[in-house]
Amino acid sequence: MINIALPKGRLGDQVYALFEAAGYGCPAIRENNRKLIFENEAAGVRYFWVKPSDVSIYVERGAADIGVAGKDVLLEDEPDIYELLDLKLGKCRMVVAAPKGFHDNGERTLKVATKFSNIARRYYVDLGRDIDIIKLNGSIEIAPILGLSDVIVDIVETGTTLRENNLEVVSTILPISARLIANKAAFKFKTKEIEEILSKLEGLVEQNDPNL
Ligand code: PRP
Repeated sequence: MINIALPKGRLGDQVYALFEAAGYGCPAIRENNRKLIFENEAAGVRYFWVKPSDVSIYVERGAADIGVAGKDVLLEDEPDIYELLDLKLGKCRMVVAAPKGFHDNGERTLKVATKFSNIARRYYVDLGRDIDIIKLNGSIEIAPILGLSDVIVDIVETGTTLRENNLEVVSTILPISARLIANKAAFKFKTKEIEEILSKLEGLVEQNDPNL
């Protein structure tokens, strides 16, 4: 049995649809209930719905053999896992954003509000810019509006949240998408099963990739 941690929410629904198309469906998962664990013994898979930012913890510690996590979480938490495949879902980008017209004159410590303190710290270290990180857990866009920070480091997908709060992108840090990840020991001991899943998903991702 392969244990698979999926991120709860819209991305997770897309990811599950991909696994289903690859032949690893679990019909009960589509029934609208609050269960968090689903199993299809015949297909050899067991799914868990977990908080997106927790997927890599389950996988790193072996509670799940494989899982799907955003590149943002992987870069922020740096879990000790294998990254097997870019699923090209959940595409967005990590950016620096600020109130319209903001200009960093570099004269004083820049106040940066973010959920992604490690990504933000590394980005500004590379630039040699002195910053003060204000770690928040959500609704980051409010911070510069209330004067809590000068800028934010956050994820932008459609740009609607920034627009509706009079903020704009100052610079793009990196593109983000969902990645298939594996526990290192599981990959060693369940190689055949995991590689079979990997190759089926690879085929589907290629089929869906508009750049190929
Ligand atoms: C994310 C991100 C932005 C928003 C960007 O927030 O932190 O706020 O989505 O999407 P958009 O560009 O399509 O508007 P999320 O919904 O995860 O909530 P939270 O960060 O406030 O918890």
